[in-house]
Amino acid sequence: VLGCAALPTVELKIEVVLPEKERGKEELSASGKGSPRAYQGNGTARHFHTEERLSTPHPYPSPQDCVEAAVCHVKDLENGQMREVELGWGKVLLVKDNGEFHALGHKCPHYGAPLVKGVLSRGRVRCPWHGACFNISTGDLEDFPGLDSLHKFQVKIEKEKVYVRASKQALQLQRRTKVMAKCISPSAGYSSSTNVLIVGAGAAGLVCAETLRQEGFSDRIVLCTLDRHLPYDRPKLSKSLDTQPEQLALRPKEFFRAYGIEVLTEAQVVTLDVRNKKVVFKDGFKLEYSKLLLAPGSSPKTLSCKGKEVENVFTIRTPEDANRVVRLARGRNVVVVGAGFLGMEVAAYLTEKAHSVSVVELEETPFRRFLGERVGRALMKMFENNRVKFYMQTEVSELRGQEGKLKEVVLKSSKVVRADVCVVGIGAVPATGFLRQSGIGLDSRGFIPVNKMMQTNVPGVFAAGDAVTFPLAWRNNRKVNIPHWQMAHAQGRVAAQNMLAQEAEMTTVPYLWTAMFGKSLRYAGYGEGFDDVIIQGDLEELKFVAFYTKGDEVIAVASMNYDPIVSKVAEVLASGRAIRKREVETGDMSWLTGKGS
Ligand SMILES: Cc1cc2nc3c(=O)[nH]c(=O)nc-3n(C[C@H](O)[C@H](O)[C@H](O)COP(=O)(O)OP(=O)(O)OC[C@H]3O[C@@H](n4cnc5c(N)ncnc54)[C@H](O)[C@@H]3O)c2cc1C
Ligand SMILES: *[C@@H]1O[C@H](CO)[C@@H](O)[C@H](O)[C@H]1NC(C)=O
Ligand SMILES: *[C@@H]1O[C@H](CO)[C@@H](O)[C@H](O)[C@H]1NC(C)=O
Ligand code: FES
Repeated sequence: VLGCAALPTVELKIEVVLPEKERGKEELSASGKGSPRAYQGNGTARHFHTEERLSTPHPYPSPQDCVEAAVCHVKDLENGQMREVELGWGKVLLVKDNGEFHALGHKCPHYGAPLVKGVLSRGRVRCPWHGACFNISTGDLEDFPGLDSLHKFQVKIEKEKVYVRASKQALQLQRRTKVMAKCISPSAGYSSSTNVLIVGAGAAGLVCAETLRQEGFSDRIVLCTLDRHLPYDRPKLSKSLDTQPEQLALRPKEFFRAYGIEVLTEAQVVTLDVRNKKVVFKDGFKLEYSKLLLAPGSSPKTLSCKGKEVENVFTIRTPEDANRVVRLARGRNVVVVGAGFLGMEVAAYLTEKAHSVSVVELEETPFRRFLGERVGRALMKMFENNRVKFYMQTEVSELRGQEGKLKEVVLKSSKVVRADVCVVGIGAVPATGFLRQSGIGLDSRGFIPVNKMMQTNVPGVFAAGDAVTFPLAWRNNRKVNIPHWQMAHAQGRVAAQNMLAQEAEMTTVPYLWTAMFGKSLRYAGYGEGFDDVIIQGDLEELKFVAFYTKGDEVIAVASMNYDPIVSKVAEVLASGRAIRKREVETGDMSWLTGKGS
């Protein structure tokens, strides 16, 4: 009989992070929902989110908390097949690969996709929705998005039957946080020096911090952010605008305490001195570091036209922005400037809430540069069917207000559009202004160039996420900027590994998604400079896959209602195999499903 105690179960190690005396300091209500604690640094309130003891640890499940059952016959599954099986307290993903059975959590910890609909290849399963990858032998998360891994359950074969044994708790939880080190540095929360400083608590920064702890790093880590919140799910901001900050949190506050990851909120770094390994915050607070990660992301571009200072014109960057836009848009007229992903997601979301939604765009079709003319048109039609009005090939020349509040948007075409709220989604620039005099190399557009180990030109200083350009291995090491959520995770991880001298390199295949009117568009690869688009399926019905080619090669793929094709292509590209144009032109997709491809 298999002992349940041997199972990898809940691994949130709960430890005290800071000395007793730091606890119980005054609550700083002004800094918002996170109920952080005040720390008097330099006459200024600082918000270190680490100084509290956690309550009771998770009990280790006793054998009674386990379930075991025969789930199928060994011959029920072919090699390379997956199946969801019921285990009383929940489902399990059963995988047969190379004659061996594996049992894992069945739901992707990111947004809960059923992994049985994903892609099994090279010893891992890739999620059908946004491309996260899990090792079938361990359940470990190996590619992003998302932070957690899958539970791995015990399997035994007896009399040709497959038995799975799992703890009830794991079956219900459906996610596993990797084992992590805690902080044992005596200076945590006190001193003005840290071992690792991470500027930016977005996706790249958080994954860097978590990876360091997963790899056993137990010195002090400080993350800082302009936001008043702990790291949150930014892609949700434009897809579900009225989600409250607490619901967007990627990790609960207890998590940061448990692992001794200090988060400084509303803490803007204004100067970096790489010679003395020191940063200065806006309020004068100084912090020294041994290793530094620069992950400041980007800042949204704003309009520079006449009237730009009127009220009710927004970019979407924080939960506050998003929440305020919905509140103001209810029953009113909304103008969205820019028909890129952000603008289109916001427009789609607001159609049910606002009186009218209009989109203003310089190009002829939305998403044209990214998805091409035909796909762009098909999506535009979906928006028009949902009452969104487009003003294309024009731009805003003036924002007109009444008593300081927006009333009209005037276009270059001299058309006047009524507007109570305006959302601007016209792109972003790297938030690297504070690095200008620092000695950190920046390119002409302000991006931080890094090598494939995410190192900047200064030893010990790494950079990751939206603010960098890096060599894309499978596109001849071309230096590119890929501002995707998943990329930022992957780069944060590689940066952390290299801080620990593990010599990791960036290899992930870019993966992106967007969601509008309940439909998801998925995208993998890097399509910049595509010269042809091959479309299979039905564009009109919005059930299609589009392959973006350059010369003879497929460089990117997009799909709607065609899962898991994008994950399959991503897996093929990740395996290092090039996909030829003629392979996708025929409409015969057997090359994708064929074993070993
Ligand atoms: C509304 C919206 C929707 C999106 N939707 C999607 C999507 O559906 N799919 C997708 O793939 N991508 C999406 N993206 C892009 C995705 O969010 C980014 O690629 C990702 O967040 C980049 O991560 P990052 O860590 O580089 O930067 P960010 O997540 O932007 O984090 C940057 C951090 O740096 C901090 N910071 C900046 N400057 C300083 C400073 N001087 N001092 C201290 N801290 C500083 C910021 O406060 C922030 O904490 C979306 C972006 C937005 C804005
Ligand atoms: C999965 O994990 C095992 C054990 O750590 C490792 O040997 C193997 O290489 C991993 N597989 C993949 C596909 O990464
Ligand atoms: C706090 O920092 C400011 C700006 O660097 C400095 O002028 C001031 O003397 C410091 N105060 C204390 C108490 O250290
Ligand atoms: S739900 Fe699996 S990657 Fe998003």
